[in-house]
Amino acid sequence: MTAQEQTIQARVHIQRYNPDVDRKPYLQTFDVPVPQGMTILDALAYIKAEIDGSVTFRRSCRHAICGSCAVNVNGKNMLACNTPLRTVLTKKNEVTIRPLSFQPIIKDLVVDRSAFWEQYLKVKPWLIPPENSGPKEYRVTPEEVKALNRAETCIMCGACYASCQVVAMNRQYIGPHALLKAFLRVLDPRDSAPAERLELVSGTDGVFRCHTIFNCIDACPKNLNPTEAIETLRKLTQRRLAFEKEREERQKTL
Ligand code: FES
Repeated sequence: MTAQEQTIQARVHIQRYNPDVDRKPYLQTFDVPVPQGMTILDALAYIKAEIDGSVTFRRSCRHAICGSCAVNVNGKNMLACNTPLRTVLTKKNEVTIRPLSFQPIIKDLVVDRSAFWEQYLKVKPWLIPPENSGPKEYRVTPEEVKALNRAETCIMCGACYASCQVVAMNRQYIGPHALLKAFLRVLDPRDSAPAERLELVSGTDGVFRCHTIFNCIDACPKNLNPTEAIETLRKLTQRRLAFEKEREERQKTL
């Protein structure tokens, strides 16, 4: 057996907080055997199953699809289910796991994401097809797909939202997650309401509130670029009516 394959011991510090009984959050330490390939989520599941069943965290898919397991690990937001535990251990084989920031803690690593989803709904994240479009096939060019810059792969994990210093200062800010979705819809040639969408994000809590700090890019586990999307929306707000006219012409060819 190579050194890599050997099980090592890690000290996992988890932020605990039960608002019903605790006055403030505190760290609790668990000793966890770490075989090769164990993820952070595996370690949390081990702790819950073998040491303390009251440790509370969210997870569902275990495949970086649902976005529910995002947590703050050693100060950086990431998905617990696709991050090998060994890659985040310090030289002393320790790791500190906390809930995502700027949202009320329900219990331990579970936060109340109501504000996150309220901001998301503000941008009308659903597709609005042209009236009377009928059941026909829409054709989108490879260039138009490329322009989306993989924004459609966002899984709404909240890692960007909880790393954004503007969100920290102003909970009314629409946020990088919702603005990335707005970008996706605005650039989607099948959508018929780009001018309305651009109007929605051009207010005081929209794209011009972003301070271009880039934290959202660093935090995104899907390597997406909300900052660039916000920059594109900023430019398009200047010519939103002309942009919608161009969209109408384009849709005649879809
Ligand atoms: S459990 Fe679904 S993204 Fe991690």
